[in-house]
Amino acid sequence: MNVLIRLEQHGDVAAIHDITERAFAPMRYADGNEQDLIDRFRDAGAMALSLVAEREGAVVGQVTFTEALAADGSSGWYALGPVAVEPGLQKQHIGSKLIEAGIAELRARDAAGCVLTGDPAYYSRFGFRPYPDLSPDAQVAAYYQILPLRVSAPDSVISFHPLFYGPPGQ
Ligand SMILES: CC(C)(COP(=O)(O)OP(=O)(O)OC[C@H]1O[C@@H](n2cnc3c(N)ncnc32)[C@H](O)[C@@H]1OP(=O)(O)O)[C@@H](O)C(=O)NCCC(=O)NCCS
Repeated sequence: MNVLIRLEQHGDVAAIHDITERAFAPMRYADGNEQDLIDRFRDAGAMALSLVAEREGAVVGQVTFTEALAADGSSGWYALGPVAVEPGLQKQHIGSKLIEAGIAELRARDAAGCVLTGDPAYYSRFGFRPYPDLSPDAQVAAYYQILPLRVSAPDSVISFHPLFYGPPGQ
């Protein structure tokens, strides 16, 4: 499928919200607020990178990267997510193209690595591996994965951006 991967632009905001809401709706592991999380990151200036997939002039997928925090103070850590593809266009490698383009950009920034929570059956194809001992959160440890980039062997707990856990003050 012919898709263009490009940086998010202002006019993409509503489509990203809509696609993310519909893509996560049937997922039993979803919070149901993934689309709000993206808006919260954007509003707080916490979006480190947002890429969209465009097909025939329409946004059909999006991936968010935020900065992550290493307990040892090392810099250059990122978190991937949410990522979503238009439900009728899934499993046609749009998600893979978004993630691969995002990882390429992290490499260009000399990132230490990237963390996420998700299904290892999917994310292992991009080089993510489980690191349950480094998870900041016991409840997601089984799904916590890291893709080491500049750092070959991560040995510090890497935490997600505080906004991952809800709006400030909640
Ligand atoms: C997850 C998601 C972004 C993947 O995007 P996609 O474009 O559908 O996935 P791709 O086509 O790039 O997948 C590549 C391969 O992974 C497989 N795959 C897709 N989702 C998978 C999953 N959840 N588990 C295991 N394999 C998966 C595909 O079948 C494909 O296999 P192939 O290479 O043998 O053809 C998309 O399915 C989606 O929006 N899902 C709902 C929201 C969601 O769950 N987001 C991720 C939360 S962690």
